[in-house]
Order: sequence, then structure tokens, then C-alpha cells
Amino acid sequence: MSKIIKLMCFGTGGLSDVVKRAIDPEKAAIVGYINSDKALEGSVSNGLKVIHPESLCNVSYDLIIIAAGACDSMVAQLKSVGVGPEKMAVYNALESKTVESLVMDLNARINTFRSRSALEECMFYRTDVIGLATMPILGRSRSIDLSDRLTDFVRYSSLELVGREIERNKIPGCVAELGVYRGDFAVKINETFGDRKLYLFDTFVGFDHEQAENDQRNGLTANVGTQFVDTSPEQVLSRMKYPEKCVVRAGLFPATATGLENEVYCFVSIDADLFEPILDGLKYFYPRLAPGGFIFVHDYNNSIFMGANLAVREFADTNKLAFFPLSDSCGTAVFAK
Ligand SMILES: C[S@@+](CC[C@H](N)C(=O)[O-])C[C@H]1O[C@@H](n2cnc3c(N)ncnc32)[C@H](O)[C@@H]1O
Repeated sequence: MSKIIKLMCFGTGGLSDVVKRAIDPEKAAIVGYINSDKALEGSVSNGLKVIHPESLCNVSYDLIIIAAGACDSMVAQLKSVGVGPEKMAVYNALESKTVESLVMDLNARINTFRSRSALEECMFYRTDVIGLATMPILGRSRSIDLSDRLTDFVRYSSLELVGREIERNKIPGCVAELGVYRGDFAVKINETFGDRKLYLFDTFVGFDHEQAENDQRNGLTANVGTQFVDTSPEQVLSRMKYPEKCVVRAGLFPATATGLENEVYCFVSIDADLFEPILDGLKYFYPRLAPGGFIFVHDYNNSIFMGANLAVREFADTNKLAFFPLSDSCGTAVFAK
């Protein structure tokens, strides 16, 4: 029998459980956990010891799997204690066993590390690219780059199609995203609706602690720590094709919508991860959505952030509204008016 690959898992939140489930026990085993919070050194996660990155030199392992949505600071921390890129792998395949669900920009860095081949060595699933609908039957060429394996095709493609409907039906209004982070999806919204005002709502300093703790307490998410802090409005604006169309509303939503009571929207993306801002988002945006407009609520079928599912169902039940669950990588609920 071949040697079992010894893995250290960097991260003790929800994604680390997904990593654990995805590992083929005949090929690899997690031998310990890493957490950047020094206070957690010596604690136990999934029955194994948690260490600080500085203690890695005392541990024998083959590979570190970074199990977190935003890995920049973790990579930097590992580098600072002498871990080379060949020892790091970024895991972000969520729960998909057959479909490569590489969504966030961190995935672009996967190839820089040894991670793809290393992950494939020790995971159950193969990261095959699925046959994607290019819609030749409709005689359409698509603006989605199908050769880009890092794209969430279903999400981006649905945005593209919804954009066509909105333009064709001459639906009035501006567009918005609540939960922008570094603007991966906002860039696509800006491209799709190049002549419309785009409101960008985000704290740009990560989650509100109270809102995050509420979701943790209610079992909707694991420890959310300091996710999404590493961004800024300037960084997001610098990525936009039409920055002059963007209006940044920095701070805690819904307070940041003050003064926008009379605004009309034709497309809104709500991607705030937590129950409270998502429900607040639906309460603010839906009444202001023009007939013929759409709201995408990301993470409707995400088992790591379950607040979106609860907020969508609560809002839909209360207001007797129907929505369509999209089959993109985190699951998006689509409200159409
Ligand atoms: C998953 S990220 C957004 C990802 C982004 N849509 C993309 O496609 O890359 C979630 C974002 O929601 C923001 N957020 C969460 N609650 C918020 C609130 N109450 N007000 C403003 N922003 C919030 C966080 O700061 C974080 O940047």
C-alpha cells in the first residue's frame, strides 16, 4: 500500500469539515489543525490538536490544506514561518464531488501552488469540467469564457441572460450588489449593465461581529473569524470596466441605504452570507425592484453559510413570493418580479 499523505488543515471552520469529508482515507489523513489565533493553540478540533503556524516546525506533515474562503493572509502567514508554496494547497471545491466549483479569485492561485495535483491525489472526486451549455441550438454565442475553468459558469451565464431580458424588455432602474468583497461578481454586473448606475454596498471591513455571532449561535455557520476584511472600495473600483457608473455605499447595511428610498432597481445581487443583512436586503430591494427585474440571492444552497436559505424562505413565505433555485456552485435563489 502506498504511503498515506499527512495533511495539516489550516482552518477549523465549516470548510474544514468539508475537506475532512472529501478526503479518501486510503490516500490521506488529516493529522492536525492550524489556526492563526494563538489563543487556540493546544485546543482540539475534530479530535485533533490545533497549533499556531509558528509551531509547524515541530510537526511532521506532507501538505497543508488551506480550508478558507479568503486565503491571502493564511498564505502570507505560512510563508512567514518558512513554508514553501509546494507545501500549500487551497481547497475551495465546496461540496461538489464531480463539478469543479472554483469561484473565487483565490482559485486562480491554485495552479501556482502544487495544490491541484496534490488535492486530486488525496480526494475522492475528480475535478472534471462538466459539459457546459454553449446554447448553439439558440444560435447564440456566449460572452462567458468557457475555457476559463475557474468561472462559475452557471452564475455568470445566468447574469448574462437576465441582463439580456432586462435590456430587451427595457426595464428601468439601476443595479446593485449587497456584499461586494473584492468585486468578483460586481465586475460582471458592471460589464453586463455598462450604462446603468451600480450601487456597491459593503462594510469593506468584513462582517459585523454581532450579525456573525448571531448566525453562529443559531447554527447557521461555523466560526466566521476575520473573513472578507482584506479589501477596499479603491481596490474594487480599480477592477471595474465602467468605474464612473459605480456608487460606493461603505458601511453596515441597511443604514447605508438611507437616502435611497426612492431608487428603482432592475437587477440586484445579494451576497452578504449572513441571515440578517440578507433579509434586510430583500426587505429593502424587493419593493424597489421594477416589474421585469431580478434579484439573485447567493448561497441559497450553501451548507457553510445557511443564513441565505433561511432569509429567502422567510421572506418568500411572508410575502407569498416564488423564487427559482439556480444550480450554480453555492446555489442562488432568483426572485423575478
Ligand atoms: C461572500 S462576500 C461577497 C462576495 C462577492 N459578492 C463576490 O462575488 O466575490 C460577503 C460580503 O458581505 C459583506 N457584508 C456582510 N454583512 C454586511 C452588512 N450588514 N453590510 C454590508 N456588508 C456586509 C461582507 O463584508 C463581505 O464582504
